[in-house]
Amino acid sequence: MSKNGNPIIEVRNITKYFGSVIALNGVSMAVRSGEVMCLLGDNGAGKSTLIKTLAGVHQQSEGEYFVEGQEVHFDSPRDALDHGIATVYQDLAMIPLMSISRNFFLGSEPTKGSGLFKRFDVKFADRVAKAEMAKMGIDIRDPSQPVGTLSGGERQSVAIARAVYFGAKVLILDEPTAALGVKQAGTVLRYIAQARARNLGVIFITHNPHHAYAVGDKFTILKRGRTFGTFTKDELSREEMVRMMSGADELDALSHELQEFEHADKLHGEGKMSEVDHALAASLEEGESLLNSKKEQ
Ligand SMILES: Nc1ncnc2c1ncn2[C@@H]1O[C@H](COP(=O)(O)OP(=O)(O)OP(=O)(O)O)[C@@H](O)[C@H]1O
Ligand SMILES: [Mg+2]
Repeated sequence: MSKNGNPIIEVRNITKYFGSVIALNGVSMAVRSGEVMCLLGDNGAGKSTLIKTLAGVHQQSEGEYFVEGQEVHFDSPRDALDHGIATVYQDLAMIPLMSISRNFFLGSEPTKGSGLFKRFDVKFADRVAKAEMAKMGIDIRDPSQPVGTLSGGERQSVAIARAVYFGAKVLILDEPTAALGVKQAGTVLRYIAQARARNLGVIFITHNPHHAYAVGDKFTILKRGRTFGTFTKDELSREEMVRMMSGADELDALSHELQEFEHADKLHGEGKMSEVDHALAASLEEGESLLNSKKEQ
């Protein structure tokens, strides 16, 4: 089983300085195929710096980076992409007024004809975009519809489907669920599970321990540029995870999200929930009792 195989990507003792600021201080971690690794940590912990290093946006100051066992030095995001490492940033780089299929093929447009007659192959693009989205379990009736008409969660899913189609082996997601409500976050979490089922390695950055617990196989926790290490679900209870990630203030902030649990519960009653939704609901439920017990103390 590939889950137990060699890492697809691994970093050892990565350090990153910005001038005199040390953003990463000796971070090591690895990701395997068919595994979701959640990268957790407070604001400024170094999460974005780490994934930007993996994605070829930054170069580490010290330390080693391996892809499928080979040491690599990426000079640009293109280098990382050529090694099958695709990153979906929160601001997504999509063009709202352009169609779903245009956005799907942005930067790698299929063409037909030649010379002056060379043009975007709309039929091919529409067919592939629709089929690839269907594989992720999302039904796009009209791929020529502007991407701007999709929900935030659906737009994330276009970006994920695109990365999978173009042969990504590793998918890096920087806070894809941050701006989403419970239902849409559930949609994105389902695609993360889909990407894992298709044997990609996924690095999922989130501030939300419940989202992490719903889909994560492993958890790497960063704090001020250092790592506490990588834990499996068995090794790290939800409560420990929350405690490592945040203080009591943030637990309070979570209460807003927990209220939305009611909504998820309703869907549950309607029998419309997938395995991931159940995991998310269970996670939120446990978080709620954790929150209540903190308040009582
Ligand atoms: N380009 C940069 N120049 C200077 N300092 C930077 C740069 N990028 C990040 N930093 C610093 O590095 C540290 C880690 O930042 P980073 O963005 O990686 O944190 P993060 O964990 O992604 O936080 P958040 O959860 O807020 O997104 C911070 O102290 C930040 O100010
Ligand atoms: Mg960040």
